[in-house]
Amino acid sequence: MTDLEKLEESPASDIVAWAVRTFGNSFGISNSFQKEDMILVDLASRAGGPFRVFTLDTGRLHEETYRMMKTVRERYGIAVEATFPDRDAVERMTVERGPNLFYGSVEARKLCCEVRKVRPLERKLAEFRAWATGLRREQTQARADIRKVEEAAGRIKLNPLADWTGAQVEEYTRAHDVPVHPLYARGFASIGCAPCTRAIEAGESERAGRWWWEQGGPRECGIHFAPDGSVSRSAPAKDA
Ligand code: ADX
Ligand code: SF4
Repeated sequence: MTDLEKLEESPASDIVAWAVRTFGNSFGISNSFQKEDMILVDLASRAGGPFRVFTLDTGRLHEETYRMMKTVRERYGIAVEATFPDRDAVERMTVERGPNLFYGSVEARKLCCEVRKVRPLERKLAEFRAWATGLRREQTQARADIRKVEEAAGRIKLNPLADWTGAQVEEYTRAHDVPVHPLYARGFASIGCAPCTRAIEAGESERAGRWWWEQGGPRECGIHFAPDGSVSRSAPAKDA
């Protein structure tokens, strides 16, 4: 069994500690400040070595999300690296299609996610040899088969919480007093951009508040899977 295969069987704390030990500042945690991401930051800070934390600042995030950047700095002493979309691409898109183009069609929504999230992630990943996400198998059908350790194009993508349940997330958060994004207290179960995320009603699925106006579909932005949910995008695709 190779080291990476062994890691696949390891608990999240071991996977994150391995990444910190092995890659240091070439290891980046992608943080949208949801509970899962904050657990990764907490685990990495317990590992006791250098690592980096980055966020894709789409320019359309909730005000509360910006507050979480400050919270992470205060609690963990980490300056979160905000990665912005290409200015010209945003200007072109919003002039041609309007600032809230995403409500117009699925195609327009995917374009906005591509410009504001997918391409900035591809650019940022060039700085890392390994990165981690808070993806969990339970979250969506498209995520049901994700591995904890993926390798593509010479970069390792870690999903250390892949096999965690929602209850485990809650339990870790409580036990270690991990800072919680304020929108959870207002009924949000999944948090993305402000115009595209809402609180959920009782009985709705965890991701019902994401792009809620779209009927069916995989409800993915494209940073992990192609937006039709089919292809894992663990490796940076070529720039569009
Ligand atoms: S999304 O594809 O629908 O937007 P989701 O919100 O479930 O993804 O988040 C899954 C994981 O993707 C997070 O745990 C985090 O690692 C990463 N991620 C999502 N959005 C961002 C963001 N804006 N900045 C950094 N990482 C993000
Ligand atoms: Fe644009 Fe909404 Fe995607 Fe954010 S989630 S990048 S605002 S379409």
